[in-house]
Amino acid sequence: MKIHPLPPPKEPTGLGKLPAARWFLVTGTAAGVTFVAGVVIIMAMTARTAELNPRPEVGAQLDRLTVALIVVFVLLLACGVGLALIVRHAVLKPIAQLTEQVRTVAGGDFDHALHVDRPAELAELSSHIDSMRARIVSAWRTASDQTEELRRSNGELEQFAYVASHDLQEPLRKVASFTQMLEQRYGEQLDERARQYIHYAVDGAKRMQLLINDLLDFSRVGRVTGEKAEIESVELLDRAMENLAATIEDTAATVTRDELPRVTGNELQLTQLFQNLIENAVKFRSEEPPRVHIGARQVGEMWEFSCADNGIGVESKYADRIFLIFQRLHPRDVYPGTGIGLALCRKIVEYHGGQLWLDGDTDGHGATFRWTLPAAGGEG
Ligand SMILES: Nc1ncnc2c1ncn2[C@@H]1O[C@H](COP(=O)(O)OP(=O)(O)OP(=O)(O)O)[C@@H](O)[C@H]1O
Ligand SMILES: [Mg+2]
Repeated sequence: MKIHPLPPPKEPTGLGKLPAARWFLVTGTAAGVTFVAGVVIIMAMTARTAELNPRPEVGAQLDRLTVALIVVFVLLLACGVGLALIVRHAVLKPIAQLTEQVRTVAGGDFDHALHVDRPAELAELSSHIDSMRARIVSAWRTASDQTEELRRSNGELEQFAYVASHDLQEPLRKVASFTQMLEQRYGEQLDERARQYIHYAVDGAKRMQLLINDLLDFSRVGRVTGEKAEIESVELLDRAMENLAATIEDTAATVTRDELPRVTGNELQLTQLFQNLIENAVKFRSEEPPRVHIGARQVGEMWEFSCADNGIGVESKYADRIFLIFQRLHPRDVYPGTGIGLALCRKIVEYHGGQLWLDGDTDGHGATFRWTLPAAGGEG
């Protein structure tokens, strides 16, 4: 299984830069040289003493001392060589082996097992690291299976919403138009109550048509993938304002804005986003004429936009609920609407890799919505 390689390891600093093998070599050589020098000096001194014609017993002792020195020298040399071999085979080689295995895993091959069988400490360490690797891989596999399953069922749901809303349109249109025809053709033969019933039926059918159209829009985002391109967000705002021109004029609303950036996204969907938010800001107005301000500030690679109004505001306890589909806080006869606008906005923003939320910090004056979009030139 290949996963993205891990970032490169942190470089060691100071004396840590020197590998362990080099340390052994330096200290081993120093100890060897000191030992040989010591032996040479002692032997030179015994030779010098022998030249001074000592008594025969002293001469014999000197000879024995020389032999003892040679034996000790040979033994220590053998021990030194043995130690170097042990360090090389039992420490340095397994460390290099483990490092190589860890490097392969860090390079992205997470199926590569880690194992060294000596010395005991390294064998234990490698077995712990390998257990961690196996556990991470299994958790990753479960998570990716679940993500795949979620994607599939999401796709199915979206397909269902699309097909249902698309196929429902036709019979509904029929119900609405035939009920209207009934009223036109036989209106005079019907009494007042019958006409009222027909009026209710037509009204219900029209509302359902609105709901279905909104549901269709909702299920299209991310499904019928709109192309993304670099766009001036001021153009999106202008287009949204054009679509809302009548409402803005009727309510004497003023819409102001900051300098707006270029972003990467789908033109149609982002226009819809601006339009829904400004429509809400104007619809949920207080007694004062509506004032709406569109702001923007750069946060890393994203732009954070805001839409602030001076309307009735939203209590912070509803900050999550209002983004759910068909959730409204007011009766339809006070503020018309289907309750899909913000759910659609959130879906559009998330489709663009951003987030949309209600800013809770408005001191009870109006409502401020904030959302992020990738800046132009990013991956988009
Ligand atoms: N700017 C705002 N000020 C106050 N309340 C708001 C604002 N925007 C949204 N809301 C609240 O959030 C609810 C959900 O908004 P949403 O836009 O989803 O639905 P809607 O405007 O009622 O209907 P639709 O947009 O589908 O026509 C609204 O019914 C309203 O109660
Ligand atoms: Mg709305």
